[in-house]
Amino acid sequence: IPGTLAPTPPMGWSSWNKFDEHIDDATVRAMADAMVTTGLRDAGYIYINIDDGWQGTRDATGALQPNAKFPDMKALTDYVHARGLKIGIYSSQGPKTCAGYEGSYGHVQQDAQTFADWGFDYLKYDLCSGEWFYNDRDTVVRSYYEMGKALRETGRDILFSLCEYGRFEVGSWGRDVGGELWRTTGDITDDYKTMAEIGFDHNGKPEHAGPHGWNDPDMLEIGNGGMSADEYRTHMSLWAMSAAPLMMGHDLRETSADMLAILANRRVIAVDQDTRGIQGQAVRTEGTTEVWAKPLADGSVALALFNRAETPITATMSASDAGLASVSKVEDLWSGAVTSGLAGSYEVPAHGVVMLRVTA
Ligand code: DGJ
Repeated sequence: IPGTLAPTPPMGWSSWNKFDEHIDDATVRAMADAMVTTGLRDAGYIYINIDDGWQGTRDATGALQPNAKFPDMKALTDYVHARGLKIGIYSSQGPKTCAGYEGSYGHVQQDAQTFADWGFDYLKYDLCSGEWFYNDRDTVVRSYYEMGKALRETGRDILFSLCEYGRFEVGSWGRDVGGELWRTTGDITDDYKTMAEIGFDHNGKPEHAGPHGWNDPDMLEIGNGGMSADEYRTHMSLWAMSAAPLMMGHDLRETSADMLAILANRRVIAVDQDTRGIQGQAVRTEGTTEVWAKPLADGSVALALFNRAETPITATMSASDAGLASVSKVEDLWSGAVTSGLAGSYEVPAHGVVMLRVTA
């Protein structure tokens, strides 16, 4: 039974990339506050997601309790909701999660109900290493089906995020278990090489993506400091062209003006959030130069010219790259400049991008 909560790719923040298991109540509250004061909430980022590391032990009835870093989950979800945001939590199928905390094994319905009772709106459901890295398709699919069903049966709207790294062609069954996004690769790290390998070469198939079912190339690293501004613009452009979920992964309190300009660019976000929900893809590749196209709901097309080389290039984008006979309006989505036609050529910095929205 497909989900109903993500007509466009989910947007928000997750604790993992910056804080890993060292996340606590005060930090989650601070992120909710910063989401509002930075203006990122109003740009569309509405989920505040707690990843691995919040779990304590089970009580005598088997109910999972948070650890000492999370004294009162209901108070925390209330705090986040009061700021016009939604809040997410994390679990995994095995007895232990990836970071070694208590998992949902044998307690799937009970945990789903606990998350609903606490007031959570989103669950990321992981799949871990060792004996719990289930190695056959049926077991993996069934484990997600069971949690998807349990979430639905709570009666609360809880967006279901699958994290099994793209195994067993998750895009072909993720919707059937109630998933509305599914990870397609291993973990991102805050470096250009890993980000580019995932974003250019290893995300899921475009035919699997669309409203209520999104390929998830993992969370954003923008603002964590390991890439240049050009590289982070490429990261944001690539995720937007791919109709990827936009889950920020930095300390929101430390969002610089440069990073805010990348993360809150309304024109680029609009490409990601386009209601037609088409996952863009490369239409022309020449060595380390790639032109991508993403058809949009109003008939315009987003075009991106990516330079994967370590030196600047001059290259072209054409109406035919967009599948159009001619182009009458061109908006440069990073600069905001609007012109009546395509330039003869574009200069693209090392590891950089030029991103346009073109109208016939
Ligand atoms: C693996 C996932 O890919 C990460 O995003 C994160 O959720 C960790 N597990 C948590 O242990």
